[in-house]
Amino acid sequence: MKKDIYIIANWKMQLSNQGAADLALSLKNYKPSLIGQNLELVLCPSFTALVAVSEAIRDSNIKLGAQNAFYHESGQYTGEVSSTQLKDLGVEYVIVGHSERRKYCGENDDSVNRKIKVVLEQGLTPIVCLGETPEERLEKKAEVTIIRQLTKALEDVDLSGERRIFLTYEPVWAISPAPPATPQEVDEMTQLIRQLVRDIYGDGIFEKKIKFIYGGSVDAQNVNSFLENDMVCGALVGGASLTMDKFVPLIKKLIT
Ligand code: PGA
Repeated sequence: MKKDIYIIANWKMQLSNQGAADLALSLKNYKPSLIGQNLELVLCPSFTALVAVSEAIRDSNIKLGAQNAFYHESGQYTGEVSSTQLKDLGVEYVIVGHSERRKYCGENDDSVNRKIKVVLEQGLTPIVCLGETPEERLEKKAEVTIIRQLTKALEDVDLSGERRIFLTYEPVWAISPAPPATPQEVDEMTQLIRQLVRDIYGDGIFEKKIKFIYGGSVDAQNVNSFLENDMVCGALVGGASLTMDKFVPLIKKLIT
C-alpha cells in the first residue's frame, strides 16, 4: 500500500492575494481526483490571502494552513492573529517555529511551545519546524540544537485523543537557494528525533501521533529521495511551490 504523503506549501511573504488565489485555483483544477487520495496538499499563504485561498480551494481536498499563530486566543495583542481566528477561516494547519520567524521575529523555544499548545487546543495541527543554523552544524552542535528545540517544543504537550503533530526537520543551511540536506543527513536527524519522541512519550507515539517531514530546497528532482526513508512522510516546500511550473512536476512525482 502506498504511504500517505503530506506536501506543505509555505508561500512565505511572496505572493499577492490575487497571485495566491490564482495559484490555489490552478492547483485545485489540476487532477483534483488525485490530490487527497494518498497525497495531502496544504497551502500556507500569508494571513492576508487566507480568505481568497480558502475560497479558491472550496470543494476540493486541498487544505488550508497558516504560517504562524499567537499563543493567546484573544486580547490586547496588536498585530497578532489567534488560532481561533484562523480556525474561523477554515485553517487546519499552522506552521510553528519556522527558522525565519526565529531569526527575524523573536520566535524562541518557549513561544514555540506555547503556540503548539494553543494550536492543539483549537483542534488544529501544528507543523513544528526544527533545524540548526549553518554555524551550529559547523561547530558540530546540530544534535544539541535539535534536542533543545524539540524537548522544549514538546514540554507538557498533550497528545491524547485525535491530536497529532507534524515535526519538520528543516536545517537553516538547506533552505533555498542553498543545496538541500542529503537523505543521509535527514535520516540521521530523523532517528534522533524519533528517539527523543520515544523518550518523552514512550513507544508507539512517534508512529501514531507524529508526521515527520523534511524541509529545505525540496523540488521535483529530489522529493522522492527524501520520501524513500520510511519515517519521512512529506515535505515543507517553499520556493518550488510558488509557481505551477515548479510545483506541478513535484506533485506529479508523488501521484503517478
Ligand atoms: P525552500 O523553503 O523550499 O525554498 O527551501 C522551505 C521553507 O523555508 O519552509
